Amino acid sequence: MQPTPVAVVTGGSRGIGKAVAHELASLGYRVQLVARNRGNLEAAKEEIVRAHVLEGETVPGIYAADVSDVAAIRTVVRDILGDCGRIDFLFNGAGISIPGTFDLDAATFTRLFEVNLRAPFVFMQEIVPIMERQGGGHIVNVASRNGKVAVANLGGYSASKFGLVGLGESAFRDLSAKGIAITTLCPGWVNTDMAAGEGASLAPEEMIQPEDIAVTVRWLLSLRRPVRVMDVLLECAKDVERRGSVEIAKLYALRERHREEYDSLTL
Ligand SMILES: NC(=O)c1ccc[n+]([C@@H]2O[C@H](COP(=O)([O-])OP(=O)(O)OC[C@H]3O[C@@H](n4cnc5c(N)ncnc54)[C@H](OP(=O)(O)O)[C@@H]3O)[C@@H](O)[C@H]2O)c1
Repeated sequence: MQPTPVAVVTGGSRGIGKAVAHELASLGYRVQLVARNRGNLEAAKEEIVRAHVLEGETVPGIYAADVSDVAAIRTVVRDILGDCGRIDFLFNGAGISIPGTFDLDAATFTRLFEVNLRAPFVFMQEIVPIMERQGGGHIVNVASRNGKVAVANLGGYSASKFGLVGLGESAFRDLSAKGIAITTLCPGWVNTDMAAGEGASLAPEEMIQPEDIAVTVRWLLSLRRPVRVMDVLLECAKDVERRGSVEIAKLYALRERHREEYDSLTL
């Protein structure tokens, strides 16, 4: 009999991570949730148990830890392996967003890197050898649209997410031949506490929903073993429309003001 697959979901207590944990539970994974706040972890666990009528070993495990603490990550992975005996899927969803660039103090800049980049790195460093021993696995890291296209006043966050995109691309080349599929998700605004806290420019219903990320994960897991997806960019339609029209408007303005330069443009 095949063992029940085990999924580690960081940031699994709220937002995107919780929606992905629901999806994984519905697919038959034993989900192991990691976040700092134990009360939120307990609440997420109860919600998942009720929604998917889980009992016994399929009840989610919860691990309260700050992923900016390298030793704590190693302890969490060791404990999950001890409790479950294997790890088949890693979802690196824990993350923080702090606006700012040169106004950020060095400690805040470092914190963004510790949570958004070093933590996924350490989780992968710990879990990849386990997956290798098992003969394969899946990893999904959540970067951001801001890890592909930076905007003003978000330099620290964007730098950490560009770093995660780069780490994911390199790991994609390292791990593919080892039977480990790794994908970086790069979403625009997602309707979670994080977006609400940042005063997003879109209404909640105009944003990507956490469930859209969950079905993206379901789709990745449904692909046949020889298929690899390096990254997925998910945009909010309203953002694309706005940017598209702004770019076109800029082009028209350039044509009016500097016709020679415009005529020499190769689009
Ligand atoms: N929402 C968006 O618009 C958006 C867009 C693109 C990318 N993303 C990325 O998607 C990921 C999830 O974001 P979200 O919107 O779901 O955020 P969220 O609703 O704020 O949830 C963040 C999750 O991460 C956990 N977390 C945060 N800091 C942690 C730490 N130091 N140690 C352990 N756990 C920690 C939180 O739990 P505790 O607070 O209890 O620790 C929570 O479970 C992040 O990486 C974010 O950068 C979000």
